[in-house]
Amino acid sequence: MAKMKITGTGSYLPELTVTNQMMTKIVDTSDEWITTRTGISERRLSSGEPTWFMAAQAARKALAEAALDPAQLDIIMVTTCTPDYYLPSAACIVQAELGADRAFCFDLNAACTGFVYALDMAARYLSDPNIHHILIVASENISKLVDYSDRSTCVLFGDGASAVVCSRGSDEDPSALLATRLGSEGQTGHVLVSRALKVRHPFLAEGAVWPDRFGEHADHTLTMEGQEVFKFAVRVLADSVLEAAAQAGVNLTELRYIIPHQANARIVEAAARRMKADPAQIISRIADFGNTSSASIPICLDELVRAGKLQRGEKVAICGFGAGLTYGAAIFSY
Ligand SMILES: CC(C)(COP(=O)(O)OP(=O)(O)OC[C@H]1O[C@@H](n2cnc3c(N)ncnc32)[C@H](O)[C@@H]1OP(=O)(O)O)[C@@H](O)C(=O)NCCC(=O)NCCS
Repeated sequence: MAKMKITGTGSYLPELTVTNQMMTKIVDTSDEWITTRTGISERRLSSGEPTWFMAAQAARKALAEAALDPAQLDIIMVTTCTPDYYLPSAACIVQAELGADRAFCFDLNAACTGFVYALDMAARYLSDPNIHHILIVASENISKLVDYSDRSTCVLFGDGASAVVCSRGSDEDPSALLATRLGSEGQTGHVLVSRALKVRHPFLAEGAVWPDRFGEHADHTLTMEGQEVFKFAVRVLADSVLEAAAQAGVNLTELRYIIPHQANARIVEAAARRMKADPAQIISRIADFGNTSSASIPICLDELVRAGKLQRGEKVAICGFGAGLTYGAAIFSY
């Protein structure tokens, strides 16, 4: 596909660490239940840091790593389903924070799959000779949507942000996006829902009734049919990686890493078995961070890069799933 090179990565994780033990103080749960059913030991929660703030912090680190002046950025995309404002977009706020005056900026909401969609878009934009550098920031304060009296969801999620700079590579560079497989299944959207504002203005007829797509949700708090999401996730994680690999002409054994969306350790293990991947290839950081929505994949990627565990030319698959329902896999040569 495109000569896309990831030239910098960076993350921001809030300091506030909430352990499973702390969760037992607010809902009827146990460390044993959470650990065995999800693989999560603790998660970071915002101390009040807004989504844009975390995004800008992660972006600064990624730009420093890429040794890129913000003024060189052509595009800023922020993937988020938990923005601070309907408008302006988080991406425009990040632009102002960075002083990235040349960039055009927009948010992308594909829920937890957002980063995979954004990487696909970045590679497509980079095939335009006028576009050289793109900043993708995944930033999520998913705790804003969580009902902390619902034990089946509140133990799962954490907050955080992570950014990558995607630049046009030279012909000699081994770096490239090799294939993507994106999809959506809107007909099962009801299994993971958070409501936005309803229509309200002074001219609304009293008692006006219009179809409510997902039934009665009083407010924005997240509702989830966990087992349905679980089955969907295992299927699409495995199948999208296999399809992307076939499209790229890459054998699974050639992949240095497979980085799945971090939602539940059991989902990841089941997906790995379904795609017959070597467990050593699979990255799982769920224990420390929980599910940080679209930020979970780039947080893992950033950790690998910073630890020197990923070399240029090594191949990586990323795969995500989330509300929508959405899913996607991408295979790139780092
Ligand atoms: C949510 C999830 C962890 C639940 O695990 P599960 O093994 O499916 O558990 P179930 O929903 O069958 O619930 C089993 C029991 O545990 C209970 N339970 C749920 N959460 C609990 C908790 N935190 N602590 C203790 N018990 C809990 C349930 O009430 C249920 O009790 P019951 O049998 O008395 O009714 C799991 O379904 C999951 O991870 N799904 C995917 C969610 C996801 O990834 N969402 C994000 C998408 S981006």
